[in-house]
Amino acid sequence: MNMKLNSIALIIGIAFSVWSSSCTAARVSHWRKLKAAYATTFNVLDYGAKGDGHADDTKAFQNAWVAACKVEGSTMVVPSGSVFLVKPISFSGPNCEPNIVFQLDGKIIAPTGSAAWGSGTLQWLEFSKLNKITIRGKGVIDGQGSVWWNNDSPTYNPTEVMLESNGRLPSTKPTALRFYGSDGVTVTGITIQNSQQTHLKFDSCTNVQVSGISVSSPGDSPNTDGIHLQNSQNVVIYSSTLACGDDCISIQTGCSDIYVHNVNCGPGHGISIGSLGRENTKACVRNVTVRDVTIQNTLTGVRIKTWQGGSGSVQNIMFSNVQVSGVQIPILIDQYYCDGGKCRNESSAVAVSAIHYVNIKGTYTKQPIYFACSDNLPCTGITLDTIRLESAQETKNSNVPFCWEAYGELKTKTVPPVECLQRGNPSKAGGINSKIDSC
Ligand SMILES: *[C@@H]1O[C@H](CO)[C@@H](O)[C@H](O)[C@H]1NC(C)=O
Ligand SMILES: *[C@@H]1O[C@H](CO)[C@@H](O)[C@H](O)[C@H]1NC(C)=O
Repeated sequence: MNMKLNSIALIIGIAFSVWSSSCTAARVSHWRKLKAAYATTFNVLDYGAKGDGHADDTKAFQNAWVAACKVEGSTMVVPSGSVFLVKPISFSGPNCEPNIVFQLDGKIIAPTGSAAWGSGTLQWLEFSKLNKITIRGKGVIDGQGSVWWNNDSPTYNPTEVMLESNGRLPSTKPTALRFYGSDGVTVTGITIQNSQQTHLKFDSCTNVQVSGISVSSPGDSPNTDGIHLQNSQNVVIYSSTLACGDDCISIQTGCSDIYVHNVNCGPGHGISIGSLGRENTKACVRNVTVRDVTIQNTLTGVRIKTWQGGSGSVQNIMFSNVQVSGVQIPILIDQYYCDGGKCRNESSAVAVSAIHYVNIKGTYTKQPIYFACSDNLPCTGITLDTIRLESAQETKNSNVPFCWEAYGELKTKTVPPVECLQRGNPSKAGGINSKIDSC
């Protein structure tokens, strides 16, 4: 409802109440009802949350959300000074009013027993199908993920979990905080730590802004991506610190117009586009800019990884002003990505073109640059401008840049020299352009 109309209705209501009530008590009670009807702040403590870190506060969160959902521009409050234990929950539309704020100043923790997770829940806290949703505050979302990290259960049996309340956790590890199918999403100020798997995921979202957040989990926690983007457009991520056990930022298929700046990454696996094209799928990523970032003690710095056998393309990518320190391989394109297992050689590939590296500086521990491109669909339009990468080891190792089927241009001299980059376009260029799926 329109806020102006709201206030007018409220004033008329009060006036009517004052005029109509002959006794004070009746007036006060009427006033209370009016206030409840027009409340715009919904504090979980008023809905029965205990906030002692032990009692199950899921129901209180659900009820506060149901109330907040009905009021345009409402605020659901998770106050500071309390720890709320919340089971997997969905704060979902599509019938919610727009512009809801989830004010997180307290701490929300995830259950660690298997009973809460059923036979495999994909996420813990979900916001779905909302129009203009904001999470802000100084609060913390803690997945208490360590119980999941060592839980290798390939022979996982769902009945086992259902029977035993404290049995094995499901093999599917949940994402801590996921936004799905929403437009106008803002996440600012909060900390997300020790996620079971990915910390923060956006799937099928548009107009997303993430700023001033902190992601924190150990460098050896498996698959704990910091921020994962999928099928999302118009995303800005800035002024954030991401430390985790997998990609600090992972940009997946269906993403375009992604802008990342002033981000600190590490430990982790760096900032990655992909992996793309797994199991012969088509993948498309467009218009990604990563600039003014620092990356330290990670597996890779800025990388693009695709599986053999995929199709589609990665185009128009800019990595600029990247300061690396102790990164194993700062600049990497791998069109032969193969995570574990054995991968067959296949002729089709996700095409990689127009990839620009500007002002990438600092130290590496394994290899400065690694471009492994497809025999059939070489990488084209790679440009290197002002690159200065030095070995972090005291005894300089001799690892020179590696290129395979990588074409492009050196805009300036580089350190080390990148002699392996082939100039211009492959002689079979005409053929290649017709093979690139422009998505
Ligand atoms: C990518 O950027 C180009 C030029 O800046 C623009 O013309 C194009 O529409 C963008 N593509 C997408 C999918 O956003
Ligand atoms: C794939 O191709 C590479 C390079 O031609 C070759 O060294 C490798 O043995 C092949 N792998 C398989 C599984 O055929």
